[in-house]
Amino acid sequence: MSSLPYGRQLAKIVVQPPGPNSRRLSAQLRRFESRNITYVSADFPIFWSSALGSNVTDVDQNVYVDLTAAFGVAVVGHSNERVADAVARQAHRLLHGMGDVYPTGNKVALAKMLCEVTPGTGPKRVIFASSGAEAVESALKTAAVATGKPRVVCFSGAYHGLTYGALAVTDRRIFKEPFLQQLGDFAVRAPYPYSYRCPSELSQPTCEEGCFAALREIVEQDQAIGAVIVEIVQGRGGDVVAPVEWLKKVRKLCDERHLVLIADEIFTGFGRTGHWFACDRAGIVPDIICVGKGMSSGFPISACIGTASVMDRWPESGGEAIHTSTFLGNPTGCEAALASIAELREANLVQRAATLEPAIRQTLEDIKASSQGTIGEVRGCGLMWGLEFVRDGKAPDSAMAGAVVVEAMRRGVLVLTSGPASNVISLSPPLVISSEQLEFALRVLQAAVARAVEQK
Ligand SMILES: Cc1ncc(COP(=O)(O)O)c(C=O)c1O
Repeated sequence: MSSLPYGRQLAKIVVQPPGPNSRRLSAQLRRFESRNITYVSADFPIFWSSALGSNVTDVDQNVYVDLTAAFGVAVVGHSNERVADAVARQAHRLLHGMGDVYPTGNKVALAKMLCEVTPGTGPKRVIFASSGAEAVESALKTAAVATGKPRVVCFSGAYHGLTYGALAVTDRRIFKEPFLQQLGDFAVRAPYPYSYRCPSELSQPTCEEGCFAALREIVEQDQAIGAVIVEIVQGRGGDVVAPVEWLKKVRKLCDERHLVLIADEIFTGFGRTGHWFACDRAGIVPDIICVGKGMSSGFPISACIGTASVMDRWPESGGEAIHTSTFLGNPTGCEAALASIAELREANLVQRAATLEPAIRQTLEDIKASSQGTIGEVRGCGLMWGLEFVRDGKAPDSAMAGAVVVEAMRRGVLVLTSGPASNVISLSPPLVISSEQLEFALRVLQAAVARAVEQK
């Protein structure tokens, strides 16, 4: 085990996490950071000190196998050498530029690259930003400018970020409640085809028909709707994979009613689902696609990319861009993204995610079978999976999911929870994870589930 290079190692726990250094830092953090941000308890968190490939090391020298890719970001691995070198070189040359006033050559190169790799062959245009939520803001504004219509259909379980526009289309009570009086009312919610917990509770023969009928009724009744924003796979919503047939129908409906279809691929983009983009899996081309996270594998940069016919409804800049930001097209971010995309291509990582899918599905189904009914459903694709924990039949069991996170961490594997009730264990490892690391991590996960069941 120790002969494996760092990045491809299995776990090495030298002190029960969180160790003394993590606990000391937690105590300090509580004094200086807003208390709403980092969850701190006797069991949580560990503080990261370094990471490479699919390994993370904490401040107490414990080494973990990471099944989170840090919120799905590190698609080409943590601190990928090519990305890190590109960032270092660019940081020494020109760390920050003036995105919309004095741009850089690598902004042109990245915009061209994004137009090439995203679904659809026609001309496209890009708006850069720094975070996923900002890319969503750009998409919502673009749709409003292009259609002249204010309302946007969004879905149950959706997560699009927490800035005000993105929050309006996000569907999670805890995030929205304190701000309800400040949120606009442009969002109209339709049921997402989450078949395990059918939100529409309709009696159509298939899940996609029930949810689709509800969506059609909404858009037919409200003439102020100009756009639909959808995640092709809901990540933070609990790793829910939308049926391909439903997605195709949504695309067709948007065409028929001249609605702008926005695909939020901030989680699913850049190989996560075993395709370059999850839209490719469904064979649909959105009018606008939002990307972030895995676009650079770690530098805060995101983008909204749309067809020229939609994007060119923005007025030409007359010297004052009506939608921009200080860090837009930051040259170091552009360099990181170019390097990450090149690595994804050359190392064939999208294909790798697709190849690993059947074996992961089988192993997770085996874990479910041995979970004594505590796992209600396994779902996912590529390297994006969810295990939904339930009790008393189907009630969400967030305590069990939380216990599995802590138990897996103690055994050297990092996972996160997702879903509206935080009862889903979410797996989104770096696409470079080795077969040995993946097998090991899933064995640990199985043991962690067994232990959590025992302690119930
Ligand atoms: C689908 C999706 N959209 C948007 C966001 C928001 O991205 P950010 O946290 O970078 O603002 C996320 C974050 O998890 C996401 O999963």
